[in-house]
Amino acid sequence: MKKITRILLSIFLAFSAGTMAQSDSATSDLNLDAYRQVNDFVDENESCFECHANTKYVLIDEFFGREIMQSMCKDKIVTRDEYYSMVHNSFACLDCHAYEYEEFPHPLEARLEQPYQCIDCHGYDENYAHFRFEDIEMEYMESVHAKGIENFSCWKCHDPHAYKLTIGADGTSISDGIAYNNDICLSCHSDFSRFELLTEREEINILETHDWLPNQATHFGSVRCIECHTSISDSTFVAHHVLSSDKAVKKCAECHSKNSILMASLYKHEAKESRRRYGFINGVILNEAYVIGANRNTFLSTIGIILFLATLGGVSIHIIARIIYKK
Ligand code: HEC
Ligand code: HEC
Ligand code: HEC
Ligand code: HEC
Ligand code: HEC
Ligand code: HEC
Ligand code: HEC
Repeated sequence: MKKITRILLSIFLAFSAGTMAQSDSATSDLNLDAYRQVNDFVDENESCFECHANTKYVLIDEFFGREIMQSMCKDKIVTRDEYYSMVHNSFACLDCHAYEYEEFPHPLEARLEQPYQCIDCHGYDENYAHFRFEDIEMEYMESVHAKGIENFSCWKCHDPHAYKLTIGADGTSISDGIAYNNDICLSCHSDFSRFELLTEREEINILETHDWLPNQATHFGSVRCIECHTSISDSTFVAHHVLSSDKAVKKCAECHSKNSILMASLYKHEAKESRRRYGFINGVILNEAYVIGANRNTFLSTIGIILFLATLGGVSIHIIARIIYKK
């Protein structure tokens, strides 16, 4: 029954829209049933995916009976796999987008519509209280992006069609979380075509502006950009107050020391776990990553002192014994 509806739907779409998608992989090959496990609007969404999941589509002029192949710009491609595994994977496209998008060419009113913001749905909602959306919103409003750029929003970092939870979420290693995080910042800071949509500024070369930092590759793989670029707060799990670059962390000792700032940021989640399980927080650094200078825990220090005293004691006894037996 469902299958018949789908066939009818696709015939209807092919005739009515005046346009036809060119699928790289035919829709019938797709395992749409897997997506139906998480989403009730899979078939409706297909009417958008048939163009938006592909690199090209056909523009048809029914009046003159002409067809032209057009390319779908990379920014406007939404992949099914990412879509159906993100945090909002139960959504229909039209939950967030205006109904006018069912028409093609898409009308201007739809394209200029203001999207919903996170806080519209999540603000003051008990179910999401642990994410502290209200505090995050306040931190974000103070950030260089919110203050300096007119069309910035939470969505610029949280890809509306792919955003997932990583650090602190089950089954994500710290290193995968770091890569995911830094990719968010680098999506603009190493892609000038996205950067220049938002500012008149010249391209900032991240490798050059960080040339004071040794072993860049190691550092960018072991810490997040936000470690150095935000003011850490107790109230949010992920700090959102991105500071101007003159306030960024430059001192090595901020991380390479016993009171490493990383314990209150990157390792916040693990530190809590570690304290609960092992009784000392530096355990996480010993296990997860070796940070020169930060790898001291009181247990090892005490053993060190005991060993030192024992050696001193042994030497003293030896000297006293020699003095006594010489006589
Ligand atoms: C026939 C192919 C086709 C179909 C079907 C289609 N789109 Fe599009 N869409 C495009 C193209 C091409 C663009 C690029 C902008 C343009 O040329 O209008 C676009 C642009 C967009 C944009 C960005 C507009 C902007 O100004 O940035 C959104 C949002 C969008 N589509 C949503 C949808 C949704 C939601 C659906 C399903 C209800 C859908 N589209 C169905 C081809 C299609
Ligand atoms: C959770 C809400 C949400 C859902 C669900 C959603 N979108 Fe979007 N979409 C947005 C927002 C918000 C933007 C604008 C992003 C921005 O401002 O950077 C957007 C932008 C777009 C764009 C333009 C991207 C660009 O950079 O130009 C396209 C195309 C698009 N959406 C297609 C879709 C399609 C197709 C679906 C369903 C498969 C869908 N969206 C589902 C919220 C959503
Ligand atoms: C249109 C309303 C709406 C908007 C806008 C919205 N969300 Fe959601 N969000 C939801 C709903 C509903 C869920 C529950 C999951 C589902 O049904 O797919 C959810 C789930 C989530 C979750 C997963 C919670 C969990 O425990 O797994 C996170 C994280 C989240 N949203 C973050 C955001 C962020 C960040 C933004 C803005 C960038 C945002 N949301 C915008 C409605 C929304
Ligand atoms: C400059 C980029 C940026 C902007 C803008 C931004 N975020 Fe985030 N946000 C991040 C990063 C990076 C993470 C960490 C992602 C991860 O590893 O899970 C994050 C994580 C989150 C989380 C999950 C926290 C947790 O406990 O795991 C929520 C909720 C969130 N952001 C909400 C928002 C809201 C609401 C806004 C707008 C008011 C916003 N974000 C704007 C970059 C940003
Ligand atoms: C170890 C700390 C640290 C890390 C990690 C770090 N930065 Fe920086 N960043 C700085 C400092 C300090 C400056 C200021 C440099 C100066 O003025 O000499 C800066 C400057 C910048 C600037 C401004 C450059 C300008 O010319 O205005 C941007 C943008 C930037 N960083 C983005 C990033 C991104 C994106 C990442 C992650 C890939 C990152 N940073 C990782 C410390 C760091
Ligand atoms: C959607 C694009 C985008 C994303 C994503 C993004 N930025 Fe930016 N960022 C910009 C733009 C544009 C500017 C330049 C603002 C201006 O005009 O001064 C900027 C400026 C900055 C500056 C320099 C501020 C100064 O003092 O001049 C820093 C630092 C920075 N971003 C850090 C980050 C970090 C850290 C992340 C990830 C958490 C991030 N950005 C994510 C677009 C982005
Ligand atoms: C934001 C925190 C942070 C700051 C600031 C920082 N580092 Fe690091 N650094 C780390 C972490 C985490 C590692 C661990 C990398 C690893 O997994 O071995 C590291 C590793 C290193 C390494 C070993 C690299 C390797 O390839 O094994 C050296 C050397 C180093 N840092 C020097 C410095 C110097 C010099 C500065 C100041 C200019 C500095 N770091 C600033 C966090 C930081």
